[in-house]
Amino acid sequence: MKAIVCERYGAPEQLQLRDVPVPALRERQVLVRVRATTVNDYDWSMVTGRPHIYKLFFGLFRPRRPIPGMELAGTVEALGTNATRWRVGDGVYGDVSNGGLGTFAEFVAVPESELRRMPAGLSFAQAAAIPHALELAYQAVVEIGALKDGERVLINGGGGGVGTFALQLAKRQGCTVWGVDTGEKLKAMTAMGFDRVIDYKQQDFTQLGERFDLVVDAKTKRSAGELARALTLTGRYVTVGGDPGQLIALLFARWFGRRNMRILALKSNKNLDELAPLLSSGALKAVIDGPYTLHEAPRLIRRFGEGLHTGKVVLEVAGAE
Ligand SMILES: NC(=O)c1ccc[n+]([C@@H]2O[C@H](COP(=O)([O-])OP(=O)(O)OC[C@H]3O[C@@H](n4cnc5c(N)ncnc54)[C@H](OP(=O)(O)O)[C@@H]3O)[C@@H](O)[C@H]2O)c1
Repeated sequence: MKAIVCERYGAPEQLQLRDVPVPALRERQVLVRVRATTVNDYDWSMVTGRPHIYKLFFGLFRPRRPIPGMELAGTVEALGTNATRWRVGDGVYGDVSNGGLGTFAEFVAVPESELRRMPAGLSFAQAAAIPHALELAYQAVVEIGALKDGERVLINGGGGGVGTFALQLAKRQGCTVWGVDTGEKLKAMTAMGFDRVIDYKQQDFTQLGERFDLVVDAKTKRSAGELARALTLTGRYVTVGGDPGQLIALLFARWFGRRNMRILALKSNKNLDELAPLLSSGALKAVIDGPYTLHEAPRLIRRFGEGLHTGKVVLEVAGAE
């Protein structure tokens, strides 16, 4: 099969599209024919080895698993022993990061429990863009953020995958939503429905004198003290990721009394089945950058790393309709 292979840490341009063996199936795994996949933070870190701390996870000297990609939509091609949840030909999608990487390929072997049935009416490209970003957004806005109707919300990193879903979830509850990001994305964010957009290179949202009931952060860069300035008395702050040092400091701040500051630990694919009707009806929709083709992966990982994308960067794999 064809796959994007990363043999050492470095620039995305060193990635190669190669012929490699189709992965062997283990117990309770299924082989998925990948029709579409996406670029995520994990791919940038796995390919570049940055931040260095991630090498503890991906491999100290080189990536242990050489094929990037953690999100897919496709069809079940074969079943491993004792795999009973799916039938050959089923349309499936999911965030498969708990079962290993490897979706930048024509086939990937994943635990059957990491997959969900594709919502009716979606293309593979639309479906692939959903699992990771929607779950992060839903768990941040609804489950941990406990958003109430009509509240004031700020989404930091609003132009990325998580931000664009977080906006839609907040708008469904009649909220006023401000978004922080930069560059060309700001125009796209206004078109998507943000009530106000802020360029983080020009302004610091914690210094605006504005207070929000919920701040959802895709890129934590500030201290708990600074972030508290942007919250109402009952305001909540939920981060999904960011600067490792600031995240550790936030953990300490929470232990020392800032109970309204939370770091989300993602539960992959948890709510996808429940949200499927909203996805099928178009009430919730992934904002897609692309779709592109698999062999463009090196350029698109670079594009992602430089923050030039809006929403989710989607790669179609040969044979996708
Ligand atoms: N909590 C968990 O369990 C878990 C699991 C997996 C992933 N994650 C995290 O979830 C996040 C994924 O978010 P995503 O998919 O939405 O990423 P994304 O598509 O890269 O979006 C992030 C956006 O934030 C912007 N940004 C960068 N620095 C910023 C700053 N200082 N202020 C405001 N905006 C800034 C980026 O723009 P530019 O790049 O142009 O600056 C980009 O548009 C990542 O932080 C990842 O590490 C968390």
